Amino acid sequence: MPEIPREFITRLTESCDIGDVIGSYVQLKRSGRISKGLCPFHSEKTPSFCVYHDTQSFYCFGCGTGGDVITFIKKAENLSYVEAIHSLARRMGLAVPEGKEDITAKRRKTILEINRETARFYHKVLRSPIGASGYQYLRNRGLSDETIIRYGLGFAPDSFHTLIDYLHQKEFADIDIEAAAVAKRSSKGNLYDLFRNRVMFPIIDLAGNVVAFGGRVMDDSKPKYLNSPETMVFKKSKNLFSLNFARKAEDDTLILAEGYMDVISMYAAGFHNVVATLGTALTPEQARIIAKYAKEVILSYDADEAGQKAIQRAMNLFSEVGIQTNVLHIEEAKDPDEYIKKFGADRFRRLLNESSSVMDFQLNRIRSKYRLELAEDKIAYMKDAAYAIAQMDDAVSRSVYAGNVAQECGIEAQILVGRIDTIRRSNQKKEQQKQIRAIIAPSHATSAYKANPQKAEYEKEAAAEEMIISLILHRPELAKSILKQIPENLFITEFNQKVLAVLRQLSDEGQSISVTLLNSQLEEEERTAISAIAAKYDEFASPEKIFFDCKARLEEAQQNKVLQGQAISAEQFMRLKEKKRR
Ligand code: CTP
Ligand code: MN
Repeated sequence: MPEIPREFITRLTESCDIGDVIGSYVQLKRSGRISKGLCPFHSEKTPSFCVYHDTQSFYCFGCGTGGDVITFIKKAENLSYVEAIHSLARRMGLAVPEGKEDITAKRRKTILEINRETARFYHKVLRSPIGASGYQYLRNRGLSDETIIRYGLGFAPDSFHTLIDYLHQKEFADIDIEAAAVAKRSSKGNLYDLFRNRVMFPIIDLAGNVVAFGGRVMDDSKPKYLNSPETMVFKKSKNLFSLNFARKAEDDTLILAEGYMDVISMYAAGFHNVVATLGTALTPEQARIIAKYAKEVILSYDADEAGQKAIQRAMNLFSEVGIQTNVLHIEEAKDPDEYIKKFGADRFRRLLNESSSVMDFQLNRIRSKYRLELAEDKIAYMKDAAYAIAQMDDAVSRSVYAGNVAQECGIEAQILVGRIDTIRRSNQKKEQQKQIRAIIAPSHATSAYKANPQKAEYEKEAAAEEMIISLILHRPELAKSILKQIPENLFITEFNQKVLAVLRQLSDEGQSISVTLLNSQLEEEERTAISAIAAKYDEFASPEKIFFDCKARLEEAQQNKVLQGQAISAEQFMRLKEKKRR
């Protein structure tokens, strides 16, 4: 755990309002003690993300993420717990008292240094005789020196230890080199260079850090691209290739391509607002990142079957984050890189301008499945088309597309529009039901169950325990007296027992109880569980009665447990039996 004094953490969180901090990331709407907004940690259209002003905590009923203001910053900025404290302190203009530097932050910094040195090394090698084959390869693919330098491209020599030797010379330790994942450990325990005989593409984040590498072979061997595994500084799902450059283009439109080379070719041809995913399909996180920089995306995926499938997935993700999506139709070339090389930048620009809307793209795809001269097919086509059009949120667009399809099929538009409305109503109902289910019955995979697996077995008891915990968090002024009335071993589930013990300790130390203070003593998953608990039970009109009921329920459960002959001392057994008789 961090060395930052608890008193400071308390002072820090007390000096800020969680609503203000979260409000600078998420648009919140306040009503009473709760503010609501769209969750920044998963994609949703209706708000299930709640900020609780009295406990200064947040919880999302959709994805189960929750915590205090520090946890929020930690997750939103992808920082460690200690880094998040530093970030919040900077924001509030407070100086963090000197302590030991957080080990993870230090390790992260070292990894970034190793990555930077590695990129520098690969780049230097590319321009040296050892890298001649790599340099030739890139030049043959049409890249200029300027482009090679801009993207910091490099070459990994055909050797198992050249990079490692270089990094040793720079006095980096094996353990850090391994953590940076530029080298791997063999079964015998020796480190060896991960990338060999490949041209190298550094992956750079928005802060300008080299976070990972992609390396391409220069022939047909496999795998064509080798990518860094995930490390402490690299999460595939949260990065996009070339976003550092694309962001500077300050264009409302972003082009999303599949490959490194597509991006580089487009950039070199003058299209700077282009990014690519990193060897995986688009993720919800990436869609959300893109939504921060663009209002519209042009999907410029490969013309093959895989590319067309990927379009469908990407469109859905973008529609969830409210981004308008257009699709590029590439013909006579397999990808944008090849297209530009074959036909030039001007024709590619024309292609971009002719990119069609998602709905056109989808309708084309649907239409191609049917032969509209057959009545049966025509009916099926209209049915599929109605489902597709029903997904559109804008009523005007729906009516335009419905009109087009109706005309195509020779029916009255009104009939199709009616059908679309029916589908929408049914979708809305399903969506509402899903939301209600998420709120009243969180799935067993949610954080609360992960932190407290015994909840599955002791559902009622855990609920009573949670209510007591939540009561203490919501009414800290009652903490002392409540805690005094809770006998040792009243709680049944281990996790809640632990939480209670921490609360007791804090209270005994004379600290004022808060979610933040409690969180500072817990692990990541446990913190989320606490927010879930605090969010679930937050109405305490008559705290004494609630406490009394919960306590009674737990005592009864304890007795049943004993009477069922569970492990407990003979003495306790007698005492409880006695009590029960009375
Ligand atoms: N990719 C990967 N691992 C592979 C193959 C592909 O990570 N074994 C990723 C790379 O990010 C690559 C992208 O998927 O850029 C697209 O792959 P593909 O279309 O096969 O390659 P191109 O980008 O066309 O690469 P090139 O033009 O160099 O052949
Ligand atoms: Mn290609």
